[in-house]
Amino acid sequence: MVILGIESSCDETAVGIVRDGHELIANVVNSQIDIHKAYGGVVPEVAARSHIEVILPVVKEALEKAGMQWKDIDGIAVTYGPGLIGSLLIGTLTARTLAFMFKKPLYPINHVEAHVYANFLTTYPSDLPFPAPAEQPKFPLLALIVSGGHTQLALFEDHFNYRLLGQTQDDAIGEAFDKVAKIIGLPYPGGPSIAKAARSGNDRAHQFPKAHMKNPYDSSFSGLKTAVLRHVQALCNVGIDFPSTELAGLLSASQRDDIAASFQRTAIETVVDKAAKAFEEYTPASVVIAGGVAASQELRKQLSERIPRQIFYAAPQLCTDNGAMIATLGCFKAMANITPADPLTLGVSPSLSM
Ligand code: KG4
Ligand code: ZN
Repeated sequence: MVILGIESSCDETAVGIVRDGHELIANVVNSQIDIHKAYGGVVPEVAARSHIEVILPVVKEALEKAGMQWKDIDGIAVTYGPGLIGSLLIGTLTARTLAFMFKKPLYPINHVEAHVYANFLTTYPSDLPFPAPAEQPKFPLLALIVSGGHTQLALFEDHFNYRLLGQTQDDAIGEAFDKVAKIIGLPYPGGPSIAKAARSGNDRAHQFPKAHMKNPYDSSFSGLKTAVLRHVQALCNVGIDFPSTELAGLLSASQRDDIAASFQRTAIETVVDKAAKAFEEYTPASVVIAGGVAASQELRKQLSERIPRQIFYAAPQLCTDNGAMIATLGCFKAMANITPADPLTLGVSPSLSM
C-alpha cells in the first residue's frame, strides 16, 4: 500500500510517499520561511500564492525521488484542515484533480492527527540522515502536539480512537515563541532563535506566570506573552503604550538573552507539567511528541527528567509540517478500509478540531 500525501495547510508545500504506514520512500518540503521572514510571521495571501507556484513541481520531485510513477501509487492523502483557507484550497484542489485524473482513492486528513503519525515511520530514506525509531509507538499512546498552530494533549486508545485531553484556549505554544521573538527583536521563526539566545541567558533571571486552567490539560499562552511584553516595557522604562515593535532596540543583548531563557523555560514547563500529569493519570504505553516545537532541546530535556518512559520523536524534518505524516495516516486509513472521499466534492475545514 503506497500513499502519496499532500500538505499545504500553512507555509510549507510538502509531499511525502509512504509504504504500509512505516516506510518513508520520499519526502519533499518546500518551505516559505524565507518569504515570510520579512513580515515576522506567515501572511496568508502570500502563502496561498506560493503554494500555487510550487505544488505541482513538489509532487513531481517526490515521485522522481521515489523512482515511482502514478501507476505505483495506490492512493492520495491530503490535509483538509485545520489551517489557512487559501492554503488548504490549493492542496485539496491539487489532490482532488490528481485523484480524479489517475483514478486513485482520496483520503482527507486532519493535520493535527497526522503530526502524531510522523512517529510511526520506522524506515527513513537515505537523504534523511537521522536514525528512525526502531519500532512504532504502542497504544495506549499519549501524544503531545506542539507547534506554531497547535498545542494539544491527546490519548489514543488505538488508531482513529482517541480523546482530546486538553488544548490551548488562545495562542499555540509555537505562536508564543514567534510573538515573544518579535518583541525582543529575534528573527522568525521564534523557536530556534529564542533557543539560540537562551543559551547565553539566565533562565531564572525573570519569573513569568503560568496560566491556571479549569481543565488542567488545557493551556493558555496569551497571558505569558503579555507578561513578557509588560516586563520588557518596565525594563526599558517606557509606558504600556510604547509600541512593542520598537522595544527591541532598547534592550541590551544580555537583557534579551535572559528574557529569552526565562520565557523558554516557562513556556516549555507549562506543557511538560501537563504531559507529566497525564502520564501519571493514564500510564500510557508510549509517549509521542509531535509538531515543530518538538525540535526544542529544552522540551526534550525537561520531558526526559519528568517522564520515566522512552519518548518518541521523529526526525526534525518530520516534526515540522511535512507530507510524510499525511501519507502515513493515509496508509492507516487505506489499510483499515476507510471509505475514501469523493474527489468532486471534498471541501476544506479551516477550523477543524481534533
Ligand atoms: O509544525 P510547524 O512547522 O508548523 C505548524 O503547524 O505550526 O511548527 C512551527 C513552529 C514555529 O512556531 C516555531 O517557532 C516552532 O515551531 N519551533 C520551535 C523550535 N523550532 C521550531 N519552538 C521552540 N523551540 C524550537 N527549537
Ligand atoms: Zn503542523
